[in-house]
Amino acid sequence: MDSKIRSIVKKLTLEEKVSLCSGTDFWHTKEIERLQIPSVMVSDGPSGLRKQNPEAGIREVNNSIESVCFPAAVNLASSFDTDLVRSVGEAIGDECQAEDVAAILAPGCNIKRSPLCGRNFEYYSEDPYLSGKTAAAYINGVQSKGVGTSLKHFCANNQEFRRNSYDSRIDERTLREIYLKGFEIAVKESQPWTVMCAYNMVNGVQMSENKRLLTDILRKEWGFEGLVVSDWGAVRDRVKGIAAGLDLEMPGNGGIYDRLVIDAVKNKELAEEDLDACVERILEFVYKAVENHEEGRSWDKGRHHSLVRDIAGECMVLLKNENKVLPVKSSDYVLLVGGFAKNPRYQGGGSSHIRSGNVDSILMGAQWNSKIIYEEGFSATDDKFDKARAKRAVAAASDVDKVVIFAGLPESYESEGYDRKHMDLPQVQNDLINAIAAVNPHVIVVLENGSPVTMPWADKVEGILETYLSGEGVGVATALALSGKVNPSGRLPETIPLRLEDNPSYLNFAGDSSVIDYREGIFVGYRYYSRKKMQVRFPFGHGLSYSTFSYGKMTVDAEKMLDNETLEVTVDVINESDIPGKEVVQLYVEADIPNTKIRRVVRELKGFKKVFLDAHERKTVSFILDKSAFAYYDEELSDWYVEPGEYKIEVCRNAEEVITYKTVTVIPKKPKKPVYSENSVYKDIMEDSKAARIAKPFYEKAFASSDVFEDQPKECEADTTIRSVVNLNFGDFSYEEMREIINRLNGQKED
Ligand code: BGC
Repeated sequence: MDSKIRSIVKKLTLEEKVSLCSGTDFWHTKEIERLQIPSVMVSDGPSGLRKQNPEAGIREVNNSIESVCFPAAVNLASSFDTDLVRSVGEAIGDECQAEDVAAILAPGCNIKRSPLCGRNFEYYSEDPYLSGKTAAAYINGVQSKGVGTSLKHFCANNQEFRRNSYDSRIDERTLREIYLKGFEIAVKESQPWTVMCAYNMVNGVQMSENKRLLTDILRKEWGFEGLVVSDWGAVRDRVKGIAAGLDLEMPGNGGIYDRLVIDAVKNKELAEEDLDACVERILEFVYKAVENHEEGRSWDKGRHHSLVRDIAGECMVLLKNENKVLPVKSSDYVLLVGGFAKNPRYQGGGSSHIRSGNVDSILMGAQWNSKIIYEEGFSATDDKFDKARAKRAVAAASDVDKVVIFAGLPESYESEGYDRKHMDLPQVQNDLINAIAAVNPHVIVVLENGSPVTMPWADKVEGILETYLSGEGVGVATALALSGKVNPSGRLPETIPLRLEDNPSYLNFAGDSSVIDYREGIFVGYRYYSRKKMQVRFPFGHGLSYSTFSYGKMTVDAEKMLDNETLEVTVDVINESDIPGKEVVQLYVEADIPNTKIRRVVRELKGFKKVFLDAHERKTVSFILDKSAFAYYDEELSDWYVEPGEYKIEVCRNAEEVITYKTVTVIPKKPKKPVYSENSVYKDIMEDSKAARIAKPFYEKAFASSDVFEDQPKECEADTTIRSVVNLNFGDFSYEEMREIINRLNGQKED
């Protein structure tokens, strides 16, 4: 900590220190005039800058300054392109810098546990690696402009139902591998200026009071150096919060908690050093913002709008393209259907809502070479069936070469503050898609939604383009992608299941209780579907292109490695087509350990790279894998551990389809020692005590024909063990014989 901050803290009275620990209003930190400590402003994100107008009421989330609406978080994750994400972060950083915003309250890095979470559009993925890498790129982009970020909502905030009070019950391994991992990657790779603690509890402890997560893990284990801010209104007990390492409470509490904190310090219930640590971190943040602020900076709306148009197409995911129905040709006579073509859905609702002054409609015909006509068919805002409207669309559909239907979720279906009730599009849309597909074989569905929808018509249409929420350039970007001027290169950052009921959290999501058991454990998203060999509509990582890619030689630079070493992997990728395009090379790791001792998913994403390939170009893509590619979180060790054995390094088309692989044996540098309880017979045997030496030959014989010996859990009861040994040896030993050995063992112990 710098000495300037330390000397300021020394000059502050107790009252002043306490007052600094909460905001002065909804968006500003406190000013202390006496010591010229300035106040700085924070504002919402993540899909752009939502700087609320000064005169707007706190609930008027849509009353903010005009800024550029970038593609939603889900789109950025779909790009699988950290350079692209960084460029968005840089542009948003420029806007914040010009608007004198010290930090943007973004990005959100929570895992999409269920397709129903109302804020899924604001989160990246069901996969922690993709989430963490995307978040880090965004943060690095924003912060390169001298503006801070707030990595949120830390942690296990995976639903909106009862978001202020529910308790996420998660076992330690799952917490580490799934719900913390993305945050861990982002913190280590980008050092956000702030982290926002979530509203919910985790395993019975309010996040705003969670010392283990806010201090022991976030700061001490991961090395987070910044400030922890509460989500807006997430504080319950401010004294406990300060002790836990929650520095800044937002918004201001009007002073209601200050007295309690002052009394707690005076009564020695709260250590003054804990308070000082919070104040120091708040001051570090404030002065960092002030020092990095560049007066008089401006930003270019037109340039940012073009950036949205340019990148939005690259985030779109071409899910289906049978008979090369796409791109639409200039000779095609095309009918556009759906209210979303006129009123596109391009962003999510709630605190991330951007007031954009310039939204492209799909009907901005300039992008289309082909002849187009339009029929509304259904509205973009409700589920109302209008017979005449629908009839006109079906009638027109039979007369054209191709029909492009713009479907999606009306804004009211998904937002911050509530979850979806189901995964379906409005019925009127599904009905019309079916009716049109019955009269025209060349139907393309374009989807505008923040989270997956069921697609009961998927087999009846030739093309499906998932555009999610593309930001204000939506219309032009979609038209460019449909007409082939932009080659869509997004990949799904989440699985689209056939039906909601297939989702692993289905029986334990939201519901009527405030206690949410994460019973599916580590089996989230594709980790579950692939383990269950379950058919899905589209797997994680899926996405087509107008180009055709193939893969050539793959190499790994070792066949055997210690877990403190790294492995270099290369693979050749070739564009076999005449169309330039971008391929996402996806690298997964699968443990190939037949007698593995732990619960295993099939494979996990451990690397991805997006590469541009000109027509018929070949490139070599390389990755470096380290221990984190092979390790699981071992609860006994309270640490990451690599089980010794073989691992397949797989280049995949998506989470289900392996293209090519190589195998490597990984050995832990420090092998795990078995842990036995004090009274365990196994402890004697393993540690070769005197008693054990007597019993050992019998045990060895007994165990020779099976691997049960190694498999015994640490607290194995002698009696259970004897029985299983007897059972597994088909009569070679009797229960009595084995029992006698144990008795002798016990007898020896007593001597
Ligand atoms: C949201 C945060 C947001 C904050 C400020 C909260 O309700 O959960 O994501 O940054 O409000 O608007």
